Amino acid sequence: MAKPKVFVARIIPDKGLDIVRDFCDVDLWSDELPPNRAEVLQHVQGVDGILSLLTDRIDGEVMDAAGGQLKVISNHAVGFDNIDVNAATARNIPVGNTPEVLTDATADFAFTLMMSAGRRVLEADRYVRAGKWKTWGPMLLLGTEMKGATLGLVGFGRIGKAMARRATGFDMRVIYYDPNETKADTGIKATRVDFETLLAESDFLSLHTPLTADTRHLIDSEALSKMKPTAVLVNTSRGPVVDMDALYDALKAKRLFAAGLDVTEPEPLPSDHRLLTLDNVIIMPHIASASTATRDKMSWMAAQNLIAGLKGERLPNCVNPQVYT
Ligand code: DGY
Repeated sequence: MAKPKVFVARIIPDKGLDIVRDFCDVDLWSDELPPNRAEVLQHVQGVDGILSLLTDRIDGEVMDAAGGQLKVISNHAVGFDNIDVNAATARNIPVGNTPEVLTDATADFAFTLMMSAGRRVLEADRYVRAGKWKTWGPMLLLGTEMKGATLGLVGFGRIGKAMARRATGFDMRVIYYDPNETKADTGIKATRVDFETLLAESDFLSLHTPLTADTRHLIDSEALSKMKPTAVLVNTSRGPVVDMDALYDALKAKRLFAAGLDVTEPEPLPSDHRLLTLDNVIIMPHIASASTATRDKMSWMAAQNLIAGLKGERLPNCVNPQVYT
């Protein structure tokens, strides 16, 4: 019997790719850069499944270009703002994602950014390499301490809670804002507050929210103006949650102490972007989940979703379960 045809939009770890190759006839996009729009539209034609990455915009046009036999879209990410889920649901196509497995790696990295930006680690390294280090100095490269500081979280889902658990080990006070939370998790020491209070009281503000119409530029110039000038902002969610121009202005004017960004708008950030001229911002190339173990698990999970969909079974992790009702 012929194997189902799938388009895999980039090389993923073998853990998942081997499974997909065993079960499917695979068209694998093997370039380092993602396929452009025309290439996606061409490569999806006639496939039964698409394994996409967060860099691939999968909308109704792509689904229609694939054809009526398209059974599943499996995103190799927990975030799925690159997929038009409504368009998929309207076509009865289940969409899969990779939750849980990247929670700890992402929270670890958000903490790495908090501490590195707060204690000016990269700036200090540049200082040493530039030959500027003359002696130990009581005023040299002073930063922000974790103990006793307030950690504010935007979003109290899986990663937000993992942040709160880590913060207790640093003797931090934790507050969070999450308009979607329905049930308080009593096991975690954290206080729910409104957005204004979160901005005003956070010494470290870490973003753990999906990108939606409501969260796009949630951290804009008005929000930044309500934060403490000593605060550190960390974003490991999606770049557009922060207005990059407003962030530049706040950091430049020292109205915000520092920022640690794993995600930017756009990605990649152009090499002549103004933010790159500032010492008080750390910019990473969207690697918060990039531990070998986590990426193995993500690829395995994406493969499981893809194959379940091809078999007509319920996806283990489906973001539009309405397709099953
Ligand atoms: C995701 O999965 O959404 C992250 O941004 C990348 O791992």
